[in-house]
Amino acid sequence: MTLLSGQPFVAILSYHEYCLILRCDAYAMDLDKKSKVIIDLTGKIVLVTGSSSGLGAAIAKYMARAGAKVAVHYHSGKDRADEIVNEIKKDGGFAMSFYGDVSKKDDVMKLFSEIDSSFGPIDILVNNAGIDGKRELVGDDVPEDWEKVIQVNLMGPYYCAREAVKRMKPRKSGVIINITSVHEYVPWSGYTAYSSAKAGLSMFTKALAQELSDYGIRVVAIAPGAIKTPINKDVWGNPESLKDLLDKIAMPRLGEVDDIGQAAVFLASDLASYITGTTLLVDGGMALYPDFKHGG
Ligand code: BGC
Repeated sequence: MTLLSGQPFVAILSYHEYCLILRCDAYAMDLDKKSKVIIDLTGKIVLVTGSSSGLGAAIAKYMARAGAKVAVHYHSGKDRADEIVNEIKKDGGFAMSFYGDVSKKDDVMKLFSEIDSSFGPIDILVNNAGIDGKRELVGDDVPEDWEKVIQVNLMGPYYCAREAVKRMKPRKSGVIINITSVHEYVPWSGYTAYSSAKAGLSMFTKALAQELSDYGIRVVAIAPGAIKTPINKDVWGNPESLKDLLDKIAMPRLGEVDDIGQAAVFLASDLASYITGTTLLVDGGMALYPDFKHGG
């Protein structure tokens, strides 16, 4: 890059540099200090569970754009997972897809050994795979539905963290990011299993962070609010329920998957090296009691 003298904002870029800057959104420049702050995950191996669509797919793409090698995990969407892998490759990144049911311990062990063989031991685990479950009131519900939500949303992250820790502890380094939800704080009638699992995952984040703090391993959570993904399409896809949802958010918009991808690369990077055992809310102020904006 050539800087024109006395003109710090004007630069003549080669085509390669231009493409690199376009690709690398996870990048900021402090012009006053003439220094760059870069999120660089080059050489890191990342597993993002449930990354064939929605939040997971965005997190996988951001990790790859920051230079990491990404294991794109899927349960039922092989074709979609392969599409994400192809998008990452087209963008100059490195990724492969891997199958597994995170709610089954043996599947998770197999998933990790396959990643070991293809990539090596992971450095960063993003426990993203999750399900909302059906809207059911306790007493009128089917206990097996409750169990399923706990299995996928709480046991899944535990099984994956267990395998990750075995690989991270000997190397005294690693990051585990658990994707919880605004519902780790905000109760959600009809979704008691989901809210309980997410609150449990939040406490798991803290207890595990404490357990691993002497091993150079950080454990953090991201709590997304209402992000536009296939999981809640029936809500934002309908004008009436969309309005109801927007009324529950302090900022005047739904979240985008990029909002979560950006938070994830930051927390995975050394820029967050003193952050552990805490949750970053990425919810546009959904947890701020937005009704109180207009009095109370
Ligand atoms: C759920 C979404 C919901 C959002 C806000 C998320 O955890 O997965 O379905 O729209 O919380 O309620």
